[in-house]
Amino acid sequence: MSGRLTDEHILITGGSRGIGAAIVEKCLLEGANVSFIDLEGEEGENLLTKLNQDSKLLFVRGNVCSAEDLKSWSDASRKKFGSITGLVNNAGRNSYADPVTMTEQQWEDVFDVDLKAAWLAAREALPDMIANKRGSIVNIASVHANMTYPSMFPYAAAKSGLVGLTRSMALEVGPHQIRVNALSPGYTETFLVKEFFERNDPALRQKVLDVHPMNRMAKPAEIANCVAFLLSTEASFVTGANWIADGGLTSRFAG
Ligand SMILES: NC(=O)c1ccc[n+]([C@@H]2O[C@H](COP(=O)([O-])OP(=O)(O)OC[C@H]3O[C@@H](n4cnc5c(N)ncnc54)[C@H](O)[C@@H]3O)[C@@H](O)[C@H]2O)c1
Repeated sequence: MSGRLTDEHILITGGSRGIGAAIVEKCLLEGANVSFIDLEGEEGENLLTKLNQDSKLLFVRGNVCSAEDLKSWSDASRKKFGSITGLVNNAGRNSYADPVTMTEQQWEDVFDVDLKAAWLAAREALPDMIANKRGSIVNIASVHANMTYPSMFPYAAAKSGLVGLTRSMALEVGPHQIRVNALSPGYTETFLVKEFFERNDPALRQKVLDVHPMNRMAKPAEIANCVAFLLSTEASFVTGANWIADGGLTSRFAG
């Protein structure tokens, strides 16, 4: 399907690669004007060149943990495309830590990206949405909000917080006809997952595939399809939800 997001103006964080880049591509395909922010300048520029859609696409290099960077980005986006109607909080990072040796700074570095940035970006997008009485926000959480893996502390805590933020935000802005949902991917073939497997025993990848009901991981485009649905008016009565796209992984008991 295409055209579901025609004339929408969608902001996407962490859009240079992986799931974020797939969301950028999908939103363009569905007719939206798209603006993305990412720390990775070179990958962002490469995506711009690849998609070759100057009139419908904007990239700003910046850090989602910085309120100033988010403000410059949203101002530039508004200047190019007008009022913001959608936001996807996708930027995120893994964290591998031990609860005893982890420092406060390390904790804050993870929570700034994986949780606080979603609120900071929403703070930029919401005034337009409230003024126009419409909008959709999608927060990319993770199945780690439901079940997790040793050594992934505190990624799982931050992603659980993001699901909680989604619920609360849905209540705050619902009266303005703004919807807020979380989308929780399972294993998806990106840099993040590559990094995860490289840290572990090489046999782990096959073990993980073996417990997936469909014996495979997601492609970023499959996650982007779900995001496009949640952004679109086809999901007009879906808010405060946490949609799980994990190929059935969390439906399965051990054994
Ligand atoms: N890949 C998976 O299996 C998986 C599973 C569940 C959830 N997720 C979540 O999906 C989202 C996307 O992950 P991915 O797998 O595509 O990872 P990725 O590392 O390929 O892409 C993440 C993007 O976010 C950007 N980014 C990170 N920190 C940033 C910051 N401070 N400011 C601006 N940009 C920043 C990175 O530069 C990168 O382009 C993340 O929130 C991640 O937690 C991924």
